[in-house]
Parts: sequence; C-alpha cells; structure tokens
Amino acid sequence: MPAPHTDIPIRPAVDADLDGLLALERAAFTSDHLSRRQYRQHLRSATADVFAAADAGGLLGKAVVFYRAGSDIARLYSIAVAEHARGRGVAKALLAAVEHAARRRNCARLRLEVRTDNHAAIALYERLGFHRFGGKRRFYEDGADAWRYEKHLPAAA
Ligand SMILES: CC(C)(COP(=O)(O)OP(=O)(O)OC[C@H]1O[C@@H](n2cnc3c(N)ncnc32)[C@H](O)[C@@H]1OP(=O)(O)O)[C@@H](O)C(=O)NCCC(=O)NCCS
Repeated sequence: MPAPHTDIPIRPAVDADLDGLLALERAAFTSDHLSRRQYRQHLRSATADVFAAADAGGLLGKAVVFYRAGSDIARLYSIAVAEHARGRGVAKALLAAVEHAARRRNCARLRLEVRTDNHAAIALYERLGFHRFGGKRRFYEDGADAWRYEKHLPAAA
C-alpha cells in the first residue's frame, strides 16, 4: 500500500527532535505532559510510533500512537500542531500517517480520548471519520472529562 500522499512532510521523529517535541508539548497542552524521558522511551519502543511534521523552519507538529501486543486497536495518545502552523492540514497529514502505520500493523481500529471542551480537536476527529463511542469522567490530571473516539481502518491491501 502506498504511503498517503501529502504536501506536508511527515517522518518518524528522532532524538534530534526531542527539544522541539517538548516545546510543542508545553505549548499545546495545559496538563498530562509527556516528559523528555517518556519521549525518549517512545522513540525506541517497538509498541509506539512518534511522527513529526517538519519543514526547513523546524517542527510543525507531532503525533504519538501506541500499540498493544495481541490487540488490533491502536491508540492515538497525542497530537499537536504549532500554533503558527494550524489550519493548513498538518494534523490531517499526521493522522493519515498514523492511520497508515496502524494499518501496516494490522490494526483494525484507531482510538483516542479528547477533552470534552476541545472543540478544535473534536471537529478534526469528526471531520476525519472518527465516531464518539463513550466517555471517561475525570480522565485528565486536572480533572477534565474525556470523550472517547474510534475510527475503523480499512484492511491493508
Ligand atoms: C487540534 C489541532 C491538532 C488541529 O491541528 P491543525 O493542523 O490546525 O488541523 P488541520 O489544519 O489538519 O484541520 C483538519 C480539519 O480539522 C478541523 N479543524 C481543525 N482545527 C479546527 C478548529 N480550530 N475549528 C474547527 N475545526 C477545526 C477542520 O474540519 C479541518 O478541516 P478543514 O480545514 O478542511 O475544514 C490543533 O489545533 C492543536 O494542536 N491543538 C492543541 C493540541 C490539541 O488540542 N491536540 C488534540 C488533543 S486530543
């Protein structure tokens, strides 16, 4: 199966991205931050993918996805786009790369949690074919509730 075509360059993140990943993390989220140590682990993990959207100016966005042995459900743990790069399809391109990677690992579904007040992210997921299937009260460190979303991924050709 060919990789998704996009004008926005997406690649696996590497150690040299750590500073940029942490800066994005701090700028985009008010709680539940991934630490440098956690990012370093995820970059080396066989059960995680970290994707970077980057241009000559640096990191535009990132996505972190987890897999579990014996499960056909991939979990989008985190996605964020730098404020100056929003609204031009970076998250859409990152999600295409995540879905492609999940399909290659024979995952049939991609799941995620999103804060119930995160209207931009909810609009993104619904636009890209995710459907809400539940919620989790006080899911986040600061006590905020989450919606749970899922997308069925077509089988890899
Ligand atoms: C949510 C976020 C990742 C979207 O990134 P982005 O690169 O701006 O999104 P895209 O440009 O790829 O948008 C794709 C689609 O999502 C929807 N969307 C994205 N941002 C939106 C917004 N602010 N309001 C309404 N819809 C929005 C639109 O439908 C858009 O498609 P369209 O432009 O064709 O209408 C970004 O706002 C962000 O990083 N927010 C802070 C971190 C965060 O909340 N992450 C999600 C945690 S669950």
